[in-house]
Amino acid sequence: MFEYAGWGKKRRLSQIVAPDGRAVMLAIDHGYFMGATHGMEKPAEAIKNLLPHVDSLMLTPGVLRTDVRTDFGKGIVLRASGGNTVLDKDIDNEEIILTAEEAVKLNASAVAVSIFVGAEYSHQTIMNLAEMVNDASRFDLPVLGVTAVGKALKDKKEKRYLTHASRLAAELGADIVKTYYCDGFSEVVAKCTAPIVVAGGPKLDTYEDVLNLCYNAVNEGAIGVDMGRNIWQSDYPAAIVQGVKAVIHGNESVKQALELVNSLCNDENKRRELFEVTNKDIEESNIH
Ligand code: R5P
Repeated sequence: MFEYAGWGKKRRLSQIVAPDGRAVMLAIDHGYFMGATHGMEKPAEAIKNLLPHVDSLMLTPGVLRTDVRTDFGKGIVLRASGGNTVLDKDIDNEEIILTAEEAVKLNASAVAVSIFVGAEYSHQTIMNLAEMVNDASRFDLPVLGVTAVGKALKDKKEKRYLTHASRLAAELGADIVKTYYCDGFSEVVAKCTAPIVVAGGPKLDTYEDVLNLCYNAVNEGAIGVDMGRNIWQSDYPAAIVQGVKAVIHGNESVKQALELVNSLCNDENKRRELFEVTNKDIEESNIH
């Protein structure tokens, strides 16, 4: 993997992809368009028991500066596209919000740019990715291309669309592509020339569903996950993150990982609800 890359890029990618070729990325960048979303109201608090179990953290430059200690020794993937909010008609009107130089100053392992293929601002977002690939190349900085769906494309989490969008991201030079799992996912992987990680999407009903998603994704060719809400919105975030890791890095079955998660659902790993949560909060956090 990444044979084409120079030493600097390989070094940075090794902070994201472990020696076994797999990646457990914790996505907490949602606030860039969702604000203080449910479960991530206080990022430092939300992630403190999760960090030991992940390879890298995907987040915004603001939260990196305020909520992550400078001795955090794992991978850092910085969100580099944004400029939208859930309050907009849709969320695809993004531009580049971070230069590669600034990301390097923050000691990032990679930057992430979303493309909303086929949405109103499709062209602009695809150009965001192309421009960031060129900018990042000056520093041997890897780029994660994220195939995002907004309000209009919400139903597009299916094979044909995801294959197209993922391949576009790879063709434009993304070193890793983040997309969604779907029926027939192995074809999305087979037709994408870059390695794929999958997002978790809105919170699923059970831990078994989350583990099945991880298991199916890696067994159909993904190198791992870049997962957020299904970890930090859950009742026992530090338990499910260890189940996810057991599947991705430990090659454990869903049954084995679920037993582990259940054994870890204790008071120490329980998430404290810090604020009143309304139906509107839940609705907004399920927007993509
Ligand atoms: C948008 O919010 C981001 O790109 C997220 O990082 C991505 O959706 C993954 O998070 P989740 O598993 O919550 O979908």
